[in-house]
Amino acid sequence: MKEIHDFTIIERRQYGERYFSLRLQHGGTMPTIEPGQFVEVLVEDTPGVMLRRPISIHDVDAEASTLTLLIQVVGRGTQHLSRLSVGDRLNLVYPLGHGFTIDLPAGRHALLVGGGAGIAPLLHLSKELKTKGVHSTVLLGGRTADLIPARDAFQPYGDLCLATDDGSLGHKGLVISHPAFSEHYDIIYTCGPTPMMKAVARSAAERNLRCEVSLENMMACGVGACLCCVTDTDQGHRCVCKDGPVFDITTLKKWYQC
Ligand SMILES: Cc1cc2nc3c(=O)[nH]c(=O)nc-3n(C[C@H](O)[C@H](O)[C@H](O)COP(=O)(O)OP(=O)(O)OC[C@H]3O[C@@H](n4cnc5c(N)ncnc54)[C@H](O)[C@@H]3O)c2cc1C
Ligand code: FES
Repeated sequence: MKEIHDFTIIERRQYGERYFSLRLQHGGTMPTIEPGQFVEVLVEDTPGVMLRRPISIHDVDAEASTLTLLIQVVGRGTQHLSRLSVGDRLNLVYPLGHGFTIDLPAGRHALLVGGGAGIAPLLHLSKELKTKGVHSTVLLGGRTADLIPARDAFQPYGDLCLATDDGSLGHKGLVISHPAFSEHYDIIYTCGPTPMMKAVARSAAERNLRCEVSLENMMACGVGACLCCVTDTDQGHRCVCKDGPVFDITTLKKWYQC
């Protein structure tokens, strides 16, 4: 059930120059939030930013009625959000879209592959998998160590593996060249830059592994009304905001093969 609600910022953290997180508190009870769902954030008082901005839900604490967003500064909207402080209010429409499928029995093994801002939805996912008794390997990549934000938060929830292009942290090279990537898994979940997700999807398909990707197409309304986020799937055109953002790769052959 979608809600529109004002939240109060109760914590702000900075990760290097480009990333920051905002922990937001809701005055009442929050709806259930699936890992992979997102919010549409209202960016106020910013000329040229008319539309809400889609941001994944990074972490949820249902008891404390808080959710956390992990944000990369790329343009005017995210720049404005980066200037907000503890005590400021933020208006969200949430939870939006369909999240990752969590249907493995306890004892199975999942691989979570994230890059850049695509790391964001994987924390809530790794926590939910742990609750279900599913073992996670979390493989995060970035060009440099600074561009793998919030990585320590994953430590309690799975085996953490890191890869950087320049070798400043973990394995030197792309996530798909990390030795952990070639092991066997019952499912692979991925979110990050499109070339990374396509490479992960192609490899999963070749190895006959289940795989879900979270697409980050440009969005406007976030609820399936404007059709600006449509992607061409094997089942026809689908709105990433409403039918996704998470898709099983069996429906995305056209997408990952090109
Ligand atoms: C479902 C979903 C979840 C997302 N989750 C997160 C998240 O958790 N953390 C995070 O930092 N970002 C996330 N994003 C991306 C985020 O929405 C954009 O970075 C943001 O809207 C940019 O707003 P802006 O006003 O700062 O930049 P703009 O001025 O709108 O754009 C600046 C530059 O970023 C590019 N850009 C804008 N949106 C996107 C996009 N969706 N994909 C690729 N390039 C884009 C533009 O083409 C432009 O070059 C998500 C996007 C989607 C669709
Ligand atoms: S953003 Fe409007 S239909 Fe998806």
